[in-house]
Amino acid sequence: MTESFAPVTPSDRRAVDDVHRLRLAAQAADTPHLPPPCPADLEGSLAVPPPATAIEEWAAYAADRTCVASVRLEFPLEENDNAVTAAVFLVHPAFRRRGVGRRAAEFVRDRATAHGRSRILLAADAGPGDRSAPPAQRYFAQALGARPLATFPHLRLLVDAAPRTEPVPEPLRLRFWGSTVPEDLVAQAARLEATLSAEAPTGRLEWAPQPSAVARIRDFERMRIARGRRAYQCGILDARSGRMAAWTALSMTRANPDNALQAVTVVDPAYRGRRLGLLVKQHNLAACRAAEPGLAQVDTWNSAENAHMLRINAAFGFTHAGTRSMWELAVHPPSDAGRPDVALDR
Ligand SMILES: CC(C)(COP(=O)(O)OP(=O)(O)OC[C@H]1O[C@@H](n2cnc3c(N)ncnc32)[C@H](O)[C@@H]1OP(=O)(O)O)[C@@H](O)C(=O)NCCC(=O)NCCS
Repeated sequence: MTESFAPVTPSDRRAVDDVHRLRLAAQAADTPHLPPPCPADLEGSLAVPPPATAIEEWAAYAADRTCVASVRLEFPLEENDNAVTAAVFLVHPAFRRRGVGRRAAEFVRDRATAHGRSRILLAADAGPGDRSAPPAQRYFAQALGARPLATFPHLRLLVDAAPRTEPVPEPLRLRFWGSTVPEDLVAQAARLEATLSAEAPTGRLEWAPQPSAVARIRDFERMRIARGRRAYQCGILDARSGRMAAWTALSMTRANPDNALQAVTVVDPAYRGRRLGLLVKQHNLAACRAAEPGLAQVDTWNSAENAHMLRINAAFGFTHAGTRSMWELAVHPPSDAGRPDVALDR
């Protein structure tokens, strides 16, 4: 079997549908615990890239025009511009173990080389039963000579288990908004987001933090809206100074009214130790539930090394729901790739 890789553009209806169908099939086979991929989200992701990032979306076709693999590549354009992330790397479940994955990896290596990238990052999710990556992922990564970089516990909150809201202490005030940060708060949001990015433990991932920039916030909002997502956001403001002490966001796709993604949560370093992370999340979730009667669960992914955030989320009622693993694939295959590793049991 050989396949050819074709770029997927937003106007190519057939290719977009092919990719969506393949991702649905892979989700049903590999990650049925996750919400199914949203078609509006895919379309928007082709039209508007993440901030400071170029994207390439590829579909691999067999000779009979069956779509057998989906690959999405994200090339950071400012910090981390030596890397490319394969944000999606999926072989159709009906076409596995025929070398498609291996050839797709070769293709990604070629694209990385064409963009002058020296690091290739791969990510994939596993369900609650797999505390590490599931066998296909592990053995595939091993066959390619990729090295494990990081794991991110996936935590899920059933919203009925969420704590009640507690009042915020004086002189702090709550402020709520939707998908767009109000103009008078956007510089503070940029400051807090850069704090979060600088402090997030990255371990072996070696990922440089993003700068504080209003443009990043606005570009991210444009992307989220283009993907048909809606956000619920809350800030805690100090009434004396107007300073934003804490900020959190929940984001929902069009296709999954029962599921929200817990996005950013950050507390200004000067306000830490007062439970503001917990309080801001309580109030934001209450506002989101009031507006979204179908909301049943909230998903979040934390770094395995971020013990503090894991503790806050456990206190909130989040429980283990799966694992996201990241691997680094060398741009040039190591000579011993695929050599059996006695530490891995089949
Ligand atoms: C992982 C994945 C991409 C592999 O795709 P694939 O087309 O089956 O891969 P290949 O046929 O090229 O397999 C290459 C080698 O990987 C290893 N491998 C792949 N799947 C395996 C499995 N289920 N069990 C054991 N080894 C496996 C084998 O060594 C295989 O070589 P072999 O068939 O000659 O023994 C596919 O299972 C998939 O899409 N999984 C879900 C998403 C994912 O995990 N992405 C990868 C992120 S690292």
